[in-house]
Amino acid sequence: MRSAIDRRRVLGGVATGIGGVAGGGGLAAPLRAAVARSPVPDAGDEQYWARIAAQYDVTDDVTQLENGNWGMMARPVLATYQEHVARVNRDTSFYARRGMGADLRQVREQVARFLRADVEEIVFTRNATEALKALIGGYNRIGAGEAALIADLDYDSMQDAMVSAMARRGAEIVRIALPEPASHANILAAYEAAFDRHPRLRLVLLTHISHRTGLQIPVRDIVAMARERGIDAIVDAAHSLGQVDFALPDLDADFVGLNLHKWIGAPLGVGAAYIRRGRIAAIDPDIADDDPGSGAIDSRVHTGTLDFAALLSVPAALRFQETITAPRRAARLRALRNRWVAGVREDRDIEVLTPDDPRMHAGMTAFRMRGQTSAHENRALAAQLLDRFGIFTVLRTGLDSGACVRVTPALFNSMADVDALAGALRQIAEERRA
Ligand SMILES: Cc1ncc(COP(=O)(O)O)c(C=O)c1O
Repeated sequence: MRSAIDRRRVLGGVATGIGGVAGGGGLAAPLRAAVARSPVPDAGDEQYWARIAAQYDVTDDVTQLENGNWGMMARPVLATYQEHVARVNRDTSFYARRGMGADLRQVREQVARFLRADVEEIVFTRNATEALKALIGGYNRIGAGEAALIADLDYDSMQDAMVSAMARRGAEIVRIALPEPASHANILAAYEAAFDRHPRLRLVLLTHISHRTGLQIPVRDIVAMARERGIDAIVDAAHSLGQVDFALPDLDADFVGLNLHKWIGAPLGVGAAYIRRGRIAAIDPDIADDDPGSGAIDSRVHTGTLDFAALLSVPAALRFQETITAPRRAARLRALRNRWVAGVREDRDIEVLTPDDPRMHAGMTAFRMRGQTSAHENRALAAQLLDRFGIFTVLRTGLDSGACVRVTPALFNSMADVDALAGALRQIAEERRA
């Protein structure tokens, strides 16, 4: 049914290269050498990407173009995770109370380096939700008579968290709809106008890459505009790390929530919160913290027992990603997106919801059939793609402009996968016109 690269065929002799916490290689030596030889960026080299795809066990049941929910672990990462699960399960406290603390500290240092942050500025969470709830719920530089800004493209539970946190602090919520079609200029103008219209704003939630449409907003510029006006920003970067070539200084934000189980391909259950050094006092300590006077970031997120095996496997995920390199990963995801979008952009009945300006999107992009804005119509469209063409996508709702279908390629997708999507969409549009 599926049109993808025959992944089994290209598997040929690639060993898994399992590593421990600090050592080992994410890829077998021959593959690593091939990767190192290939130029950057290398977005259209199907042979190279077939070798990467061969590192993933992708379902053959469908063409998987819904990879935004969480990311698949590459096979070497999965093998490492399975080893850590066995070890944590076997040694339990004997490991936890002796060596595990030091191992986890090492993981945290690696992640901090990867994010280009200080190790004291990040703390692990189980996901972006936990990180952002701690930041939104704990933010204390706002009170009665003041206001916080959210937008329609923000993630639903983060909007809800803002609404309840602000109600508790006696502050108001201002909600805007981001312009559609979006452009770099009109997104900046929308935030600037909201900031100017509401002088009592003290906080803004910014979603770097929207889970609804894939729109990437110019966070750094908006943060700067906000800062000039005494407005703090909490940035939802759940979809950023690994999808775009970015590190925390690029956002220049003081408070950020992140995921490592989406685009970094770590095991499920790994996220992180970032609080810029010097801003810790703006976030209340976690209610379960036993040292509320502490200035340590750990006092702001109290998770209790975590999936230690997942955390211990993060270095394997980072190694795998670093072997490909961030610019090459980001370029490939964009190239997959650009290919299907180019195949449908000229069709008057297909509305692609992110602009082609490379500053405004990454790999993820949504569309709808022009004029079809109901959840019902877009659910039926996603069902049609699956039932008739074997292509898996997902309905997204919550935009003020209406519902849509989101397409999220991953590193294991081929150009043939996205060509199949474009062909299916053109056919559906043609049939509507007939
Ligand atoms: C923009 C955005 N923010 C936050 C989240 C929450 O991430 P998680 O479910 O991993 O906590 C998601 C999940 O898809 C998201 O897309």
